[in-house]
Amino acid sequence: MSLDPTILEAFRRLHAQALASDDPEPNAMTVATAGADGRVHARMVLLKTADERGFTFFTRYDSDKGVQLEANPRIALCLLWKWLKPAAQVRIEGRAEKLPATESDAYFATRERLSQLGAWASLQSRTLPERVALERRVDEFDHRFAGRDVPRPAEWGGYRVVPDLVEFWFAGEHRWNERERWELIDGTWRKRLLYP
Ligand SMILES: Cc1cc2nc3c(=O)[nH]c(=O)nc-3n(C[C@H](O)[C@H](O)[C@H](O)COP(=O)(O)O)c2cc1C
Repeated sequence: MSLDPTILEAFRRLHAQALASDDPEPNAMTVATAGADGRVHARMVLLKTADERGFTFFTRYDSDKGVQLEANPRIALCLLWKWLKPAAQVRIEGRAEKLPATESDAYFATRERLSQLGAWASLQSRTLPERVALERRVDEFDHRFAGRDVPRPAEWGGYRVVPDLVEFWFAGEHRWNERERWELIDGTWRKRLLYP
């Protein structure tokens, strides 16, 4: 079920304002996941795209977050645009799906070579015995791919968060903040206001 155009338009308008603001990281968003044991984990990633299909970010599929999403695809995102007037928070909940390989390939190809080599070298979320071990692995892959394009590692790629809940929050005077929650109920996006 695709995102209601009204929601997407509201998101895009705020996002464009955040990109034009002094915010140094307007694409940074918290990603919360919970694996099979129910323990909740949160970390930042960068939002890459937002369209009617959902919201995308890139990572390693064998990272802790990837392992958690394999066991439980439920996911929550949270963006804070505190440089906007009024400041805005957007909460998104839904399910994470791996992007088709062709989409991950296309984005990977746009990254600079050293980032591409980093994607091969970094065994994200595993124990790093010493910092120099990462640099050694970057050198190894640099040699392996010398003189040719760096292909995308199979374990590196994107997720699309297909939402069933989007909430816009706007800061108000006296903390009389505004909350507008959209939920996908029986195939229809419904809006209601919430007490702040
Ligand atoms: C501002 C910011 C942006 C980040 N962007 C990404 C990203 O797009 N993808 C990613 O895998 N990690 C990103 N990270 C690193 C993650 O926060 C995290 O350390 C990493 O993904 C490992 O998480 P995990 O062990 O829970 O899987 C970013 C960190 C910060 C502070």
